[in-house]
Amino acid sequence: MQNSPKKLFMQTYGCQMNEYDSLKISKLMSAACGFVVSNNIEEADMIIFNTCSIREKAQQKMFSELGALNPLKQQNPNLVVAVGGCVASQEKKNIIRRAPIVNIVFGPQTWQSLPEFYKTYLATKTRVINTEFQAVEKFACLANLAATKTPFPVAYISIMEGCNNFCSYCVVPYTRGREISRSFADVMLEVNALAHQGVKEINFLGQNVNNYSGIKSDGSTSNLAHLIQAAAQIPQISRIRFTTSHPAHFDDELIALYAHEKKLVHHVHLPVQSGSNRILKLMRRNYTHEEYREKIAKLRTICPNITIATDFIVGFPGETEEEFFATLDLATTIGFDISFSFMYSQRPNTLSAKLPDDIPLNIKKQRLYALQKVLNASAKKVSQEMVGTIQKIIVADFSRKNKQQLVGRTANNRIVNFTAPADLIGQEVAVKITSVLTNSLQGELVLL
Ligand code: 5AD
Ligand code: SF4
Repeated sequence: MQNSPKKLFMQTYGCQMNEYDSLKISKLMSAACGFVVSNNIEEADMIIFNTCSIREKAQQKMFSELGALNPLKQQNPNLVVAVGGCVASQEKKNIIRRAPIVNIVFGPQTWQSLPEFYKTYLATKTRVINTEFQAVEKFACLANLAATKTPFPVAYISIMEGCNNFCSYCVVPYTRGREISRSFADVMLEVNALAHQGVKEINFLGQNVNNYSGIKSDGSTSNLAHLIQAAAQIPQISRIRFTTSHPAHFDDELIALYAHEKKLVHHVHLPVQSGSNRILKLMRRNYTHEEYREKIAKLRTICPNITIATDFIVGFPGETEEEFFATLDLATTIGFDISFSFMYSQRPNTLSAKLPDDIPLNIKKQRLYALQKVLNASAKKVSQEMVGTIQKIIVADFSRKNKQQLVGRTANNRIVNFTAPADLIGQEVAVKITSVLTNSLQGELVLL
């Protein structure tokens, strides 16, 4: 009788880069160690947590979920538990201390060696820990995995890693290391491979994606604008996005691209964090709210229907009520699309961790609530303005609630459900928006 294949359960926390890494990790473990991915944690032979440490909450959640694995390990003493990602990079000693059931600790740039760590652990039954910064080896592994099948019509592609900005609140430069870009040829190889598998939309990822600087075969370098234009030449690719941008590095060349590069989605995620210049300076963001507003005005002049999403942090150390009102004013006057806002949380090693985390929790909560009210209202306005318009949708799947309908996303990431034949899954279609629901839009298929 044949042995059934070993089952791998993966739990991913945090950002799109982690989702991208997790997909690659599961492909790698399938190819190198014969695992099949399972959604059932109870039957797993290996459990991998790919973790996020951007805010304290995500980290706490991860530790409590690790604790909940103890009964599984008791049932199956051969179960292997691995923890990767940013918490692993930063807290490796604490992970071992707080969760002795963990067998392997790997970092955001050592997962390419996970098959080796796994085999070493099986052979020696001693814990394996490696969270070094090995971006070059990771990029080489990504190139090898470029042609492996991806199940979605929409795909992420990591183009650079790390960040040199050292915003005072942010842990990323410590967990992901300094900026390093993949070569232009490697990225294009992956874009082409995805296009041939039917991927229609690509999202170029990097912690500071505007600083992409990929070496080309002739020794020159490609910036993000050049890479976007090259990817746009591939006929199967209909949409291109990129994230995460930094306002100070979002330059005029990139802005100008919105005038003529039709495949570039008319939607930008440009985190502003605060509307107060004093707080922006303490955050080491390198721009003023006036400069941010100017950038948005330029984008809107060049591309009048562009929608802008952002991130905010409320309750940064010392943030006065007046400074918070400046944030509210920025949110109100810009009129953002669906955005993200967070209460400040102190992160180890960061510059702002030296400042007292002095805004009481109840005040942080009140500010978050007030800001989210403004943000929700402006996102709703964007949705309402979409009613009656024709939107291009990349059809992802059957609708979850109604199997007669299909679901896909607009350029500005709205979920749209509409009635259409199943063979349109994976295609780009035109849909007229008919109504706004709480978390999605309804539409009608339009034949162009
Ligand atoms: N506290 C709260 N929010 C944070 N972010 C990053 N670091 C922190 C922190 N220490 C938010 C920022 C960033 C988003 C990814 O997470 O808004 O843009
Ligand atoms: Fe963190 Fe700032 Fe770099 Fe973004 S730009 S990853 S917020 S340090």
